[in-house]
Amino acid sequence: MSQPVEPRAGRDFLWGTATAAYQIEGAYNEDGKGPSIWDTYAHTPGKIERGETGDVACDHYHRWADDVELMAQLGLRAYRFSLAWARILPDGRGAVNAAGLAFYDRLVDGLLARGITPFITLYHWDLPQALQERGGWVNRDTAASMCDYADVVTRRLGDRVKHWITLNEPHISSHHGYVTGEHAPGLHAFPLYYPTTHHLLLGHGLALQPIRENVPDAKVGVAFSLSEMQPATDRNEDFDAMSLGDDFHNGAYLDAVLRGRYPDSIATAMPEDVIQGNDMAVISGKTDMIGINYYMRLLVRAHKDAPGFEITPWQPGPRTEMGWEQYPQGLSYWVRRIANDFPDHDIYITENGAAFPDVVDDAGRVDDQQRIAFLRDHTRAALETMAATQARLKGYFVWSLLDNFEWAYGTRPRFGLIHTNFKTQERIIKESGHWYRRLIEAGSPDDAG
Ligand code: FCB
Repeated sequence: MSQPVEPRAGRDFLWGTATAAYQIEGAYNEDGKGPSIWDTYAHTPGKIERGETGDVACDHYHRWADDVELMAQLGLRAYRFSLAWARILPDGRGAVNAAGLAFYDRLVDGLLARGITPFITLYHWDLPQALQERGGWVNRDTAASMCDYADVVTRRLGDRVKHWITLNEPHISSHHGYVTGEHAPGLHAFPLYYPTTHHLLLGHGLALQPIRENVPDAKVGVAFSLSEMQPATDRNEDFDAMSLGDDFHNGAYLDAVLRGRYPDSIATAMPEDVIQGNDMAVISGKTDMIGINYYMRLLVRAHKDAPGFEITPWQPGPRTEMGWEQYPQGLSYWVRRIANDFPDHDIYITENGAAFPDVVDDAGRVDDQQRIAFLRDHTRAALETMAATQARLKGYFVWSLLDNFEWAYGTRPRFGLIHTNFKTQERIIKESGHWYRRLIEAGSPDDAG
């Protein structure tokens, strides 16, 4: 009988946390920053719970040095953050805003001084508004603008930053932004799913070239939103729906970037003139790492309208405050599937975490045992699968460093290892933050107390 494998990470495993510019920075119109689609969307009445905006968020733009100090207190080895494209290129392309670039320059130096490895995401959903006015991701030119933007930032930061993530969750950009409208730019037209998906991926592909030129030793990849699909019933049609759902949520992006083709169900639905020339070769240019953003599985059933399936509200397990089922087996599934399908890539869990209704107690502590249990279960699942499959899993990033502006939900859902008081901007390291520091030291969730 084989021995049970011990879920332990080595000293070089990159334990980190993740954030995104719009969710933490604030300073939405300072020092020459241009507006992004999230500024416009959040300023539109009715879009965000309680009329909140990310104008201030965690005020990280001004408090970044203190936040890096907190990261050091957590013992983080890596930090994944995104650049606000419109802070650097206020019009989306052309003139560079020196103050915007200088901000990230200081942040990178601050991280490195603390021994924290920076992972930069180029695009975490905050497209410059100027580019939206030219059609946003419906317009093929936006991909070319992304290439120029990648050139500007890798020239400046590439001497120190070696890990580059081009896109965060392109599926969510396209689906929530253009199909359901629950994210900026708030469009609601199913057919836009296809060109926006393709142009986002083309933006990734075109960005690879300047990244390679400017950072020859770069490790590059995409952070995919990956959800394991399961059929809601054992009816054949729901099994077919599961496979369509997998193509739509996962396969469209994984296959395009890593195999240079779309799954058949996506390829046949793609309008004829969208894919041009050698696009698929560009999109599937060499990458080094695959980012797994994992939150939940999805149960799907057949549906008469395109794309032929729907997500059921039925989720049997315990849920987080977002209503998302806690299902750590789904993270094992993804580590195993990615390691199996793409064995020549490094794997990072670029996001995983949970919102719970945290409270600050009379002693000023946030005793978030539910989050500790969630993180323990998920890190254990990931490390066990790594050991069992020899997956090249190199790091894990908790979403998120600190409570922040959770898109359309505003500041209500709290995902942080650090509590943010949005009135005073006071930070308190939650018990989960202390637990995570112990996990990093021990290398195993079972030895973190
Ligand atoms: C992911 C996003 C991230 C955050 C978490 C909760 O889909 O990438 O910005 O909203 O969900």
